[in-house]
Amino acid sequence: MTSASGTARSATAPQAVRVDGPRLLERLARLRAIGATADGGVTREAFGPLDVEARTLVATWMAAAGLEPRVDAAGNLVGRRSGVHARQLASGSHLDTVVEGGWLDGAYGVVAAVEVAAALADAGVALDHGYAAVAFANEEGARGTQGMSGSRALVGPLEEGELGALDDDGRSLRDRLADAGGDGDRIVEARWDAATVAAFLELHIEQGPVLASQGSRLGVVTAITGRQAFDVEVRGRPNHAGTTPMELRHDALAAAAEVVLAIEALPSDGAVRVATCGFVDVRPNVRNVIPGLVALSAELRAEDARGLDAAMATVDCRVAEIGARRGVAVSVRWGQRVAPTATDPRLLQLARAVASASGGPWTELPSGAGHDAQILGQVVPIAMLFVPSRGGVSHAPDEDTDPAELVAGAQALVDLVLAVDRDEPPAEAAR
Ligand code: HGY
Ligand code: MN
Ligand code: MN
Repeated sequence: MTSASGTARSATAPQAVRVDGPRLLERLARLRAIGATADGGVTREAFGPLDVEARTLVATWMAAAGLEPRVDAAGNLVGRRSGVHARQLASGSHLDTVVEGGWLDGAYGVVAAVEVAAALADAGVALDHGYAAVAFANEEGARGTQGMSGSRALVGPLEEGELGALDDDGRSLRDRLADAGGDGDRIVEARWDAATVAAFLELHIEQGPVLASQGSRLGVVTAITGRQAFDVEVRGRPNHAGTTPMELRHDALAAAAEVVLAIEALPSDGAVRVATCGFVDVRPNVRNVIPGLVALSAELRAEDARGLDAAMATVDCRVAEIGARRGVAVSVRWGQRVAPTATDPRLLQLARAVASASGGPWTELPSGAGHDAQILGQVVPIAMLFVPSRGGVSHAPDEDTDPAELVAGAQALVDLVLAVDRDEPPAEAAR
């Protein structure tokens, strides 16, 4: 990593830049209210009116921090400020949530990325690099769409036909983009020139149990998991639930239940770390009809792409066996593959130094969750920092993190941005 301007660093220790904890927490609370569900969670589906409301609010915070906010053709909200150095540092995450999700997943990294700019401005400290705070569009894959469409558009073309494909509500991504200020016809204009981006840094809640179980306040991410999505269709024969003898049935739901259990069993041979079937649609879905058609949506996660490939072969084999034995037609459609992505070695070194200098206990760990950082990591150096998730819970209304840990994480992000800008670790001054 060449240092920003290539000029010698001033002899004096760089000025400390402190986050404004109350401002950070107040902003997170305001975002929590946009899409709040009765049980303390948040539902803010990508490109919907609540997502647009959240983006509009964050854009005002970006402007207040001296960033110039704009929505790119892919629907990403990007607040930029230029620096003396041609290349930019970027940080951010996403504002959209899963259905009945939590208040911190994504929002925390966006608010913290803006807080970096605000804290620098408060301290009168300018980075050598330019700086961009980003709220990526559709990280979660709303309404059955492929996730991370915003960040994927920054690094390359979307999937063939993705712009025109209809989501579960019958609307196309192209239409959704227009709702949020994007433009499907100009999406290629959103593409980032990787040569102009020195690093992308993402702060996120861990969304798992590791940090909390170890009493760590910070996590330094070594790699981000790979992920393979797929859909399974089970076509049996609908029939009368009262008159059809058991031995004559071709029950699509009973067969699908075996497929779900086969998916759940996949990690037992170690090829993948986790396997989940989170979506089921049954037809006709009434008590007195033997189900004729079932649609499943599932996903596999592993740190090694070869494990994903091995598990895919196992799925193909198991569904063929289940279908033949039960006299139902089972077909698998392999969907989005997101490659596992490692943290940049130099950025990992700086992130370790920042975590050590923070003075609190910290841990190195891989990310079991997917993040926009792993998409950016295909073309630019990346690093991620985590804060603990209370009880290891996420993608659920109980998702929560201690306020002091949220502030400490944002401070670590500021320190990491400064370290990367200067290409030198912070002084080992424990706070
Ligand atoms: O599913 C994930 O890992 C991310 O939250 N989209
Ligand atoms: Mn998520
Ligand atoms: Mn997330």
